[in-house]
Amino acid sequence: MAILTASKPTLPSAWYYDPEHYVMELDAIWYRDWVCVGRLEDLPDTGDYIVATIGSQRLIVARSSAKEVRVFHDTCRHRGARLCTADQGHFRNGRIICPYHTWTYSLGGDLLATPGRIEVEDFRAADYSLYEVHVDTWGGFLFVNLSDEPRESLAAFLGEEAKLLDNWPLSEMETVHEERTSLACNWKVFWENYSECYHCPRIHPELCKVVPVYKKGVVDYSDDPAWRPASAGDDGRARVAPGVSSWTMDGQSSLPPIDGLTAAEKAAGMSFASFTASMFVVAHPDYVRSVRIQPTGPESVELVVAWYLMPGIRESHGDEVDRVIEFGRCIVKQDGEVCELNQQGLRSRRHKQGVLVPQEQYLWDFHEWLRGRLGAAA
Ligand code: FES
Ligand SMILES: [Fe+2]
Repeated sequence: MAILTASKPTLPSAWYYDPEHYVMELDAIWYRDWVCVGRLEDLPDTGDYIVATIGSQRLIVARSSAKEVRVFHDTCRHRGARLCTADQGHFRNGRIICPYHTWTYSLGGDLLATPGRIEVEDFRAADYSLYEVHVDTWGGFLFVNLSDEPRESLAAFLGEEAKLLDNWPLSEMETVHEERTSLACNWKVFWENYSECYHCPRIHPELCKVVPVYKKGVVDYSDDPAWRPASAGDDGRARVAPGVSSWTMDGQSSLPPIDGLTAAEKAAGMSFASFTASMFVVAHPDYVRSVRIQPTGPESVELVVAWYLMPGIRESHGDEVDRVIEFGRCIVKQDGEVCELNQQGLRSRRHKQGVLVPQEQYLWDFHEWLRGRLGAAA
């Protein structure tokens, strides 16, 4: 792990609650980058839809055919009414019908009918298709991009991080459980907390038993051999304690191992992939968990935590699945509580800016990334 060799300032406190700054981040990041909004498996049949929210934007994510998912702004081209009154459902007969004056669209977004409208010469239905949004998939995850022209492809955006999980058959895996949690903190507070383990010894005693290096308050072993116990591998990456097979309360799991992982991946017990800022994925030898992040206001965020298994495992190993969920839920709760404390303290009139300690290198990297995204706007 790279560590900071000098103190670095944190971001200005106001960036965590100022409404104008929040809107600036929505524009520069959330409305320009690829953002994960769900899974292909959420839309098994043609006509199925979910509504995704990014900042103030509501999107209809619809299965338009067996092979295709289309995404549209949830707004009618007539006078802008919301089209979907439920957050998920099925468009009957392949028709998206506005609840206001019943303008009717196809699953491809074409305006098909405008019932009761008095005809005029200059009206062309083709001018009023739904506003479409870019969508692409990786590992069964659906990503959207609200830019007119995304600055990079999804593959380029995911980059090397996605390769870290190449050996997990993510697109074949199925969601066995999903939980939504609202936190009273800015989205960056949660992302920062995820980026360091300085808090782990105090906040996550259960996790520290499973991953001993976290007791030192770092995310992996440094290049300093003195930090590295004999049980650690040569690669310096964090790994589970000897005898621990997965992330559960007692470190034990009877879930069947996922085929195709390397010896190093099995020994490490976890592999992280971070797709700043909307999702990170933690892949274990027997299950996978993702955390999606949805900013809902300057001082609020919604988390969507989901657990994935190979098909059929839930049916054969239900109790074990519950134990796995219990562990993840415990960590999220612990993190959520300190994130909300962090947010409350940031409101102090005296605390204009804090300081990063050496173990917070990844926070600094995140801040540099953020400043780069904000560019001249910041
Ligand atoms: S606003 Fe949708 S039909 Fe009028
Ligand atoms: Fe944590």
